This record gives sequence, C-alpha cells and structure tokens, in this order.
Amino acid sequence: MHDFQYRGDELLCEEVPVRGIAETVGTPFYLYSLNTLESHFRAFQNAFSKVDHLICFSAKANSNIAILRIFVRMGGGVDVVSGGELFRSMKASASPDKIVYSGVGKREEEIEYALELPILMFNIESTQELILIDRIAGRMRTKAPIALRVNPDVDPKTHPYISTGLKKNKFGINLQKSLDDYRLANTLPNVKVIGVSCHIGSQLTEVRPFVEAVQRIKELVLKLRAEGMNIQYMDIGGGLGITYNQEEPPHPRDYARALMKELKEIDCTLILEPGRVIVGNAGVLVTKVLYTKEGDEKNFIVVDAAMNDLIRPSLYGSYQRVQPVHRSDRPEWTADVVGPICESSDFLAKDRKLPKAEQGDLLAVMSAGAYGFSMSSNYNSRPRVAEVLVDKDKVFVIRQREDYDDLIRGEIIPDFLK
Ligand code: LLP
Repeated sequence: MHDFQYRGDELLCEEVPVRGIAETVGTPFYLYSLNTLESHFRAFQNAFSKVDHLICFSAKANSNIAILRIFVRMGGGVDVVSGGELFRSMKASASPDKIVYSGVGKREEEIEYALELPILMFNIESTQELILIDRIAGRMRTKAPIALRVNPDVDPKTHPYISTGLKKNKFGINLQKSLDDYRLANTLPNVKVIGVSCHIGSQLTEVRPFVEAVQRIKELVLKLRAEGMNIQYMDIGGGLGITYNQEEPPHPRDYARALMKELKEIDCTLILEPGRVIVGNAGVLVTKVLYTKEGDEKNFIVVDAAMNDLIRPSLYGSYQRVQPVHRSDRPEWTADVVGPICESSDFLAKDRKLPKAEQGDLLAVMSAGAYGFSMSSNYNSRPRVAEVLVDKDKVFVIRQREDYDDLIRGEIIPDFLK
C-alpha cells in the first residue's frame, strides 16, 4: 500500500495534489509520503515484534537526513557503508549504538570515525580488514565490536548486479573460511567478536533464499559458540523486494515468520537492514514533458528528468511504472519516456502505453523512493533535483534543488590558466 492515489483525475500524495507541489517547487522532484514511510517501517517492526530485534534502515537506499530521522525517531538504527553515511546518521541524531557498518572497502579514517562514536558493530568483509580494524582499535585504546560478513553462497534469483551472496561476488567472507577468520579474530586483543552477518542480495521476491542463508549461518553460530565465542547478534541484511510491475514479493509478515521459525533455538538479537522495502514505494519522481516526438519506429516523450536523476532503468534495465499526474481520456499511444542526457541509455521507461502526452504534462515515475535520489549524479552538469516530504496536507522541502553554483563548488582554475 502507498499514499499516491487519484482523487478524480488528480494524483495526490496523501492529501496534497502533486500538481500544486510541482507549481511551487518546479520539476523534476522526488516526492515522499510520510505516512507510507512510517507504515512500512512499522510493518517491519510489528512483523518481528515477538523476537529481540533491531531494524537498521539501509541508508544507501535513501540517505536524506530527514528520511533517516523519521526511522530514527521510530527507534530504528542505521546500516551504513561509508563515513558519509555515518555523518548523515549523526545529523539525523541516530544512536551510534544502533549503527552497523558494512562494506568491502572501509578506509582507515572511516574506521576511526566509527570507533570514536562508537558504533554497535563492524561487519567485516575480509581478513585484511579484520587485521586493520584490530590495529586501529589498539592505537585508539579501544575494542572494536565485530561480526564477520559471511557469504553463504545462495542464489538470491535477482538481477546479477544486485546479487551479493554468491561465491563469485566480491562481498563477505566464504562461509568455510570464515571459521578460520573467527578463530583469528578471537585471538586479536582489540576486537570483540559479537555477531555474524550476511546480506545475499536485493529485490528478492521469494523467502526461500533468505531461509537457506539463515540455515547456513545458524550452523556457523552454533560452531562459534561451541568454541566459546559469545555471538549475541545475527544480522541478516536487507533485500526484501517490492512490486515495481508484476512482482509478488512476500509481505514482511511472511518473511519474518519464515526467518523466526529458523531462529527459534538461537538466542540472538536479530538485526535487519531493510532499505528498498521501506522506502521504495513511498516515493515518486515527478517530471514534466518537454517535447513529444513521433518517429518511424518509435515515439518519444522527452521529459525533464533523466538517468542522472534516476539511473535504475539505464543501469539494470529495471521497470518503473509511469503514471500521468492528471488522468485524461486522450487516446493511448506507445512511447519511450526519455531524458535530455546525451546517451541512448538515458530512458526512464520503454514501450509504454500511455495517454498521448502533451508538452507541459506532468508524469510520476512510481516506486522511486529507493536508490533514486541516492544514486543520482550531476552528469551533463544537471543540478540535482529537489526532494519533498508530504505529511497529510503539509508539504516540506527536505532538499533544495541544486543551482549552478552547487555544480562548480570546489572547482578551481589554477592561476597559470587565468
Ligand atoms: N545491507 C547491505 C549490506 C546491502 O548491501 C544492502 C543493499 C542492503 C542492506 C539493503 O538492501 P535492500 O533492502 O534495499 O534490498 N541500487 C540497486 C540496489 C543495490 C543494493 C545494494 N545493497 C537498485 O537500485 O536496485
């Protein structure tokens, strides 16, 4: 469920007509519904309410500090993968002791930053990283709380670019090898082994791969405990999918039920790192039609949003539903929705049947709340778009549209060129 529905022919976000926001904020812009964000987060909390758990929202899905703040206010933690995401979490007043830090390439200064706070747990992805974290923690006269991110080698059956739990992926430590690394960790003076973690991929639409991963990890937890390691946390990552088009992913309730069944005998605090399932369908990208072109083979709707604003269709060939902000009974035609960027891969939708578009029409690219703004760039020197949050009948700009000065911030013409 989400809060982008029509009243009559006008698309609303909660109680606010999208068209009115476009008139004041300009286009393109990302638009989020507070009610959808909160109810998705709550659905996750409720699904796991029977077990000791911590929901660490995955900041990479949407890292706007107002969005992070919403989940922090609801008791959530944050899953971060960089010093920048740690900084954002602090700006959203997250509790450091609810932050988990994953990522294959943590830098020294990022590790120091996390140790200073200090965070709940590092999810370590290699033996070298383990050794470095031990060394830095020693230098800082502290102990780093750690889990190893293990790679359980299960097929998440999702797009290859977003599957992470296979042997051929760069993520995590091979399950068999992880036992040796855990033994090593247990001998290091400046790390404290407290958990096990994994994340097998994103946009999963079945429960089965999650269950398989948890079964494999459960065995590891038992072995580690048998060797005297105090495993208190089991972090099973994120990855639950959403409906973009026809997908039928499990409800968080069913996902939770399946996982909790596997974890009955394991007395651990469960950590979850959902991203897309919380924010994906809580946001849309609103864009304006600049031109239409009728070609011999194809029709094109040229809009003012582009691949730099929403890269998922270009990068993964992913489907994003496109809906008119004002419904009409114009005849339908089939067209590609494309942006102004000078790349043939700059499209938001292909071969879509839509009411014939006209210049100035507004379109909503649906399910754009996850990996939308957070993956946007300034390619073609396009200022990044505004982000707007709606709470019932109230509208808040949560990120201003960038201007031309933002584009060149930090750039310097050396004296000799002047
Ligand atoms: N935890 C870790 C360690 C992750 O790497 C990810 C996502 C998550 C949690 C959150 O996964 P989610 O619940 O959102 O599936 N840009 C791609 C998705 C990349 C996912 C990367 N890792 C897309 O637009 O589909």
